[in-house]
Formats: sequence, structure tokens, C-alpha cells
Amino acid sequence: MKIAHISDLHCAHTYMFNEEAMKSGIKRINEENPDLVIITGDLTDWGIKEDYEYALQFIEMIEAEKLIVPGNHDERTDGYRKFERYIGKRYFARAIDGIFFMGLDSADPDVDTGHMGRELIAWAKKEMEKAKDMRKVVFFHHHLLPIPHTGRERNILTDAPDVIEFIMDSEVSLVLGGHKHVPWVWNLNGLIISHTASFSSRRSPVENSYNLIEIGDESLKIERVYNVSGKREKIL
Ligand SMILES: [Fe+2]
Ligand SMILES: [Fe+2]
Repeated sequence: MKIAHISDLHCAHTYMFNEEAMKSGIKRINEENPDLVIITGDLTDWGIKEDYEYALQFIEMIEAEKLIVPGNHDERTDGYRKFERYIGKRYFARAIDGIFFMGLDSADPDVDTGHMGRELIAWAKKEMEKAKDMRKVVFFHHHLLPIPHTGRERNILTDAPDVIEFIMDSEVSLVLGGHKHVPWVWNLNGLIISHTASFSSRRSPVENSYNLIEIGDESLKIERVYNVSGKREKIL
């Protein structure tokens, strides 16, 4: 299965939004024809109606099936309710072609810190019972582990230890996230944790890019593709 992982679109009518990066990234993804596109939050800058409507214009240009979770910016200004109205459920689980995908909402209204919460972890544990013998992919916006060059460490889930325990116990293969616009991959005892860069924000330490992920029965490959230049780098 081929997945395009994008994050941190930050759609807004401001200079910080890079429309050229957005359009060329979408064009490349459509040419690549992935089975699935996973978007790990921060679709908008301020969670306002205008941002959501602007984001939807672009998201609808992506032809593949999409699984989308919110980020901290999407839950600003009562944005979590707009996410439900414009995008859909904030957390969900689905099996697609024998792989179990779980999207979780790690954001809280009007705070930037990530937090999963006991209730959501309990829900996720129960859902995982449906995923026996399947490969499992979990995705959410914030950091599960610290990532270098992301500033002071306020970006990790406040309940990260509980989430790591749930993820390890559930034998998840892959965790996907975004948040600080720094692409990074950790290998934690065989669990791959992959963060992608911002897809289209100028508030980014690296060129806007996305990750192409190939999941086989046993294999996992990740390649980074830069939206504007089209340059490609093997990551895993
Ligand atoms: Fe972001
Ligand atoms: Fe974020």
C-alpha cells in the first residue's frame, strides 16, 4: 500500500501560507496516485471558518482517499466543532486493505500542548481488539517523543508515557505525526515514529515536503518528496 503523509498545511489568507508549495505538492501527489493520503493536523492557522473553507478548497483537489485528524491550530477559536462540520470525526479507526488505521485527536481547544486523555486512550485500546493479526498504523498531530531542533520541549503529549505504553502493547508498526514542521524518524524497538515537515507553511525550517510511505507485509519504506523542487530523499 502506498500512502502520502502530509501535515501542517496552515491554510490562511496570510503571507505565511505558501500557495505555490500547496499547489505543486498536490499535483505531485495526484501524479503519484497513492492508495491513501493521511493528513496529521494543522489544516488551518486559526481554526476559523474562512481558514477551514480555504483548506477544504485544496483538500478537495487531492484525488486519493483521505484520513484526517486535527492539530492544535485547528482547535483554536472553537475550531474543533468546525473540524467536525467541515472535515469529519476527530478520531476514528478503519481497516483498509488489511491494514488497521487509527486517527486520534491529540489537541485541546485553545492550547498548543498535546494531550490524549484517559478516555480516548481507553477507546483506542478497545478498538485495537478488532485489529488482531493486522498491521497497525496510528496517527495524531503532536510529538510522542522529543524531536531535535523543535525548540523548548513543550510539544510532546503531556501523557506520552501512557500513549507509548498503549502503542507498544498494541504492537503498532508505524506512528505518524507533524506539529513543529521538522521532519524526523525514530526507531523505538522496531516501532517507527515518523514526522513530516509542513506541507505549505513558510513558518518552516526546511523546504515544504511530504512523505511517501510504502507498507508491505513485512516491509516499510519512507521517501521524502519536496513540493516545489521535486527532489526526493530516501529516509527509511
Ligand atoms: Fe503546525
Ligand atoms: Fe501544531
